[in-house]
Amino acid sequence: MSQKFKILITGVAGFLGSHLAEKLNSLGHEVIGIDNLMGGYQDNISNEIEFYKVDCCDLLKVQALMKNVDIVYHCAATAHEGLSVFSPYEITKNNYLASVSIFTAAINNKVKRIIYCSSMARYGDSKTPFTEDMEPNPIDPYAISKVASEKVLANLCELNNIEYVIAVPHNIIGPRQRYDDPFRNVVSIMLNRMMQKKAPIIYGDGEQKRCFSYIDDCISCLIPMMDQKNLHREIINIGPDEEFVTVNHVAEICSNVAGFNAEPIYKEDRPQEVKHALCSADKARKLLNYKTTTSLRDGIIKTYEYIKKRGTKEFDYNINLEIINDLTPETWKKKQI
Ligand SMILES: NC(=O)c1ccc[n+]([C@@H]2O[C@H](COP(=O)([O-])OP(=O)(O)OC[C@H]3O[C@@H](n4cnc5c(N)ncnc54)[C@H](O)[C@@H]3O)[C@@H](O)[C@H]2O)c1
Repeated sequence: MSQKFKILITGVAGFLGSHLAEKLNSLGHEVIGIDNLMGGYQDNISNEIEFYKVDCCDLLKVQALMKNVDIVYHCAATAHEGLSVFSPYEITKNNYLASVSIFTAAINNKVKRIIYCSSMARYGDSKTPFTEDMEPNPIDPYAISKVASEKVLANLCELNNIEYVIAVPHNIIGPRQRYDDPFRNVVSIMLNRMMQKKAPIIYGDGEQKRCFSYIDDCISCLIPMMDQKNLHREIINIGPDEEFVTVNHVAEICSNVAGFNAEPIYKEDRPQEVKHALCSADKARKLLNYKTTTSLRDGIIKTYEYIKKRGTKEFDYNINLEIINDLTPETWKKKQI
């Protein structure tokens, strides 16, 4: 029988953290989850796990909860890349300071390994496909906070002899993702609007290209990161590199799945949005036996079914705009989504 661990997951009310908690719990590990509930949904948290409403920045509380913990998965963040140039303080606090606090607590408790969820934003507008050996090229406060957190993680872990792995997910879709967040999650936003008979909103000409990962395909990569021997110090992109599609094409699939046809509403480009973002999955294939099991269309169908079951929602502007000027999208200034 494989070894059972005591595992702490941050951001457990969130999309990734809640799926991870459920899977690790089903594998027989003892799971503790923390979240400040500023994002995610409280009902994402399974009753089977020990939950604490705690902010990651609260070092003393986090440190106490980490007693006897073997493995830490740090998933909490305000993962709002586009918003980060307009709300840099809030986003840096929850991404960078929160990470430093979690890593400090983990090191003081001598955990065996820390798995950090970074982001493809770390590559910025580098040449595609992005490979892990590329020099990070962060171009906005979200990406800067992710790369800075990676560096602090490596620095503290090397000094204190603690193992770490950096997971680099990209554009994950699926059930439990917040669909009433106006600032991120393009597929969920489009579906939530279309199911209310509202046309999708697209920034720029919609020809920007992305790859989308279905949640289960990310979780199956995160699980072995907990104890697979050859992963210490590795940075690994997780998610597919097939189906590299335009946002216009994503809108077409969403409209087809939701059964609602309307011309997209095109808005000004968002500042610093990367035109084409594609991560190579070669390293994940090699080290984690990565395979894509769910196509983009099937992932959109599952997301649609989730929203349909819960019901559509009004968008919730729960993060304040800190910089409001001519560059700020009017969709956010005027709450048009
Ligand atoms: N979903 C994606 O497409 C994607 C892509 C790349 C990287 N990531 C990374 O994966 C991780 C998980 O993303 P997600 O999509 O599940 O996000 P999410 O917003 O669904 O979940 C994040 C959770 O963190 C919590 N949180 C935020 N700040 C906190 C704080 N200071 N203290 C405690 N809890 C806090 C929120 O309440 C939320 O429940 C993030 O680090 C994100 O940057 C996600």
